[in-house]
Amino acid sequence: MQDAKALQVAVVGTGYVGLGTAVMLAYLGHHVTGVDVDQAKIDMLTRGELPIYEPYLDELLRESAPRLRWTTDYASAIPNADVIFICVGTPPLPSGQPNLAYVAEAAQSIARHLNGKVQVVVNKSTVPIGTGDWVARILEENAVDYHANRYLVVSNPEFLREGTALHDSLYPDRIVLGSDSPEAIERMAELYEPLLSQDFAAPVSVPRPDCYTQPALVKTSLSSAEMIKYAANAFLALKISFANEIAGLCERVDADIQEVTRGIGYDQRIGPHFLGAGAGWGGSCFGKDTAALISIGHEYGYEMPILAAAIEINQRQRQLVIAKLQQHLHRLKGKRVAVLGMAFKPNTDDLRDAPAHDCIARLIELGAQVVAHDPIAMPRARHEWRHLRYQEAESAEAALRGADAAILMTEWDDYRRIDWESALRGMRHPLVIDTRRVIGHFGGAGIVEQIGKRPASRVAEVTA
Ligand SMILES: NC(=O)c1ccc[n+]([C@@H]2O[C@H](COP(=O)([O-])OP(=O)(O)OC[C@H]3O[C@@H](n4cnc5c(N)ncnc54)[C@H](O)[C@@H]3O)[C@@H](O)[C@H]2O)c1
Repeated sequence: MQDAKALQVAVVGTGYVGLGTAVMLAYLGHHVTGVDVDQAKIDMLTRGELPIYEPYLDELLRESAPRLRWTTDYASAIPNADVIFICVGTPPLPSGQPNLAYVAEAAQSIARHLNGKVQVVVNKSTVPIGTGDWVARILEENAVDYHANRYLVVSNPEFLREGTALHDSLYPDRIVLGSDSPEAIERMAELYEPLLSQDFAAPVSVPRPDCYTQPALVKTSLSSAEMIKYAANAFLALKISFANEIAGLCERVDADIQEVTRGIGYDQRIGPHFLGAGAGWGGSCFGKDTAALISIGHEYGYEMPILAAAIEINQRQRQLVIAKLQQHLHRLKGKRVAVLGMAFKPNTDDLRDAPAHDCIARLIELGAQVVAHDPIAMPRARHEWRHLRYQEAESAEAALRGADAAILMTEWDDYRRIDWESALRGMRHPLVIDTRRVIGHFGGAGIVEQIGKRPASRVAEVTA
């Protein structure tokens, strides 16, 4: 138990964000109840099992178990809570707008169980600007005995990255708190005191970085906090698309995008992060949040051409992978193509909007036989991608054996450890489209195409 002044917390929605938030707050000493409508998820958590893969989350879950409870019953979680987090999904609608139905349902359910004393309702889900006020209105309409001074709404956007979620939650760059109520901000500062002062004992598995001191506390209005989240994600997406745009030119002028981004990244005004050229961004957030921002702009008759271009470039990158394959193999019909990496990035099992999905779907459409592998996400893909007809490989090496080509879609460390020279020799045609710069040395044993660079080896073109 840490030194925090323990608060009672309810976390509504126990997905990637809610689960990380619940476990982190319990680790800091608070008493946390996770609420979800998904009974299977709650059953797993109650048994001490995790429904998602996130490094070290199992260890912290075990360590914090005495302060954690899981339920589908709002009535047993909300009345007691000093702070109630809404962490439900906001997936995109076909229009690009986020679907706020889950937020509305959660807010209605919360409202019915508020206790009439001061409680803070915190929106951690990524939501359009104005949603905080909308949630306050839902509380007002559904809470018995509603009183604006007693139900305080805060926007506290989440910036964690899947794969490093605990690190990002325990050692954040900043904590953004948006509210019109000083009392709500004060309670949130109390909740986050251990993070703000960094006086908690760091978990052994997620040590405090040597250079880390404390997070910045950014206090804003509700709408600024909501905008901060969208603007941050949009900017990161822009950086990746920018690197991809420059990468295309690098290929044509015989420059190497990796050398170029290293060269520009040392400039402190630019920074080295999120400049990785490749198959483009994926995951549940960037596509959804850029589309949401554009659609919010449309509500005000405001165009956002930079963002629109970033999305277009991202789509182009996904197609580029297949085009590179076609340049070498000409016809994909009947070809066996290994796809290494299915998750949208390493160290997660999250498949949402993963570039590998579109790549596999297109390969199948073009008549290729796909053999796919992922160190962690394969079981989830079996369920979520059951509409795709691909074969699973038990290892990356097995996928590569006898393949006409391979596409490397996710930069898992396991793939860096492959003996690429021998793997290429074991392929029917030694061709790899390495979209994530995983392959270093391969002894010229085949063709390795990387994005933003001329092929590392130009051996005789592969023919059917
Ligand atoms: N995943 C990320 O990396 C990330 C990072 C920052 C912000 N966000 C934002 O956080 C939010 C949640 O994202 P996520 O990835 O954790 O989503 P998720 O889909 O993994 O989890 C959402 C959970 O909410 C539950 N839920 C839905 N309706 C509910 C209800 N009425 N009551 C209780 N539970 C309910 C679902 O069963 C699910 O377990 C989204 O708005 C997302 O944009 C996500």
